[in-house]
Amino acid sequence: MHFELSEEQLMIQQAARDFAQNELKPGVIERDEHQKFPAEQVKKLGELGFLGMMVDGKYNGSGMDALSYVLVMEELSKIDASASVVVSVNNSLVCYGLESYGTEAQKEKYLKPLASGQMIGAFCLSEPEAGSDATSQQTTAEDKGDYYLLNGTKNWITNGSTAGVYLVIAQTHKELKHKGINAFIIEKGTPGFTVGPKENKLGIRGSDTHSLMFNDVKVPKENRIGEDGFGFKFAMKTLEGGRIGIAAQALGIAAGAYELALAYAQQRKSFGKPIAEHQAIAFKLADMATQIEAARMLVYKAAWLKDQGQSYTLAGSMAKLYASKVAMDVTVEAVQIHGGYGFVKEYHVERLMRDAKITQIYEGTTEIQKMVISRNILG
Ligand code: CAA
Ligand code: FAD
Repeated sequence: MHFELSEEQLMIQQAARDFAQNELKPGVIERDEHQKFPAEQVKKLGELGFLGMMVDGKYNGSGMDALSYVLVMEELSKIDASASVVVSVNNSLVCYGLESYGTEAQKEKYLKPLASGQMIGAFCLSEPEAGSDATSQQTTAEDKGDYYLLNGTKNWITNGSTAGVYLVIAQTHKELKHKGINAFIIEKGTPGFTVGPKENKLGIRGSDTHSLMFNDVKVPKENRIGEDGFGFKFAMKTLEGGRIGIAAQALGIAAGAYELALAYAQQRKSFGKPIAEHQAIAFKLADMATQIEAARMLVYKAAWLKDQGQSYTLAGSMAKLYASKVAMDVTVEAVQIHGGYGFVKEYHVERLMRDAKITQIYEGTTEIQKMVISRNILG
């Protein structure tokens, strides 16, 4: 059993750490305040090869392993979870989905610009009436011979207005239930496809979340991903890796808040000594460090299993379940350690606390992860 990162992984981790400090930290408070999408930063992330990290070089990807990907997610999320969610969606949902299940033509046309960061993608499964209950898709994709006709609404779509390409899940054969669902590639600007207003959110406010409307949108047959009826399996298989990315995001948020709290506790004095020397605060730091380390082990293990070509359904869900709880617990304590200063924006921890919450909701809520885990355990 090896607990050491390779030279290459350490270099990638350092590059992400430097990027987060130099490019994401300046302006992160302002972007959060004004719900400003980190467009310039995302462009630079593409130039660094962080938007198609695990994609093969022949499709403009960086050909890195999943462990390197989670290291990058962790480092970026310490500073700016609104930027890291773009990295997560583009890498583990959009690029992974296309590379694993797309045709050669789809990879040439769509994966190449997505992996190089020339454009970003969105993954569109959730609907107003189908979130956790994802098989209840109401968006329809009627088979019209050489094209499909899409009608319906998708909700809460990350990169909703900034994406160039959308992977959209829709029902074609209602009578077949989840076996009648398909996944499609839809380009921005396709007639009948409109983007709703930006959601005004509690956290990850720089991330661009919108509903999407499809009104008689014609999608060419060659834009269906996989065989007829493969769409639900496509979504589930893709989300398995996505959950590792979000688990790494949660880990990063927790670690970022902990680092701030540790530094603050050593310099803030009360009753004549640094607050870190009061046992109540020191024990909080001990708990936070332990929880983060345990979450890190689960996240890295899930990524390692993926890299070994082994099943990571269970490990990914466990990592997401636990790391997202740790993110909530640790960020709340980080605010507490900062006292009143933790309650204002300049100290960053209140933003991390708000950002932490989404990791318990998207890519399968806490309750859904428990459903996946218990079904795996019970068979
Ligand atoms: N791999 C392959 N197939 C899978 C699978 C997996 N991991 N999980 C389920 N399936 C298959 C099942 O085998 C079954 O197919 P068969 O009948 O052919 O065997 C089919 O899918 C239906 O499975 P279930 O009967 O288990 O379906 P269910 O209705 O009980 O729901 C669920 C399963 C796990 C709860 C699923 O609905 C789910 O994951 N819900 C959460 C949705 C979600 O995570 N949404 C995230 C949206 S993306 C996002 O959020 C991005 C972002 O924020 C940035
Ligand atoms: P519901 O499914 O209505 O759940 C409500 C509550 O009931 C939750 O606590 C849930 O856990 C619980 N619950 C539901 N069913 C059960 C059950 N069987 N047992 C126990 N408890 C249950 N979706 C995308 O497709 N693409 C995206 O890019 C995307 N980005 C997002 C970004 C943001 C900021 C947000 C807020 C959401 C995003 N989502 C995205 C949607 C997200 O995946 C869903 O919000 C999530 O899956 C939950 O669905 P819901 O909101 O409909 O809640």
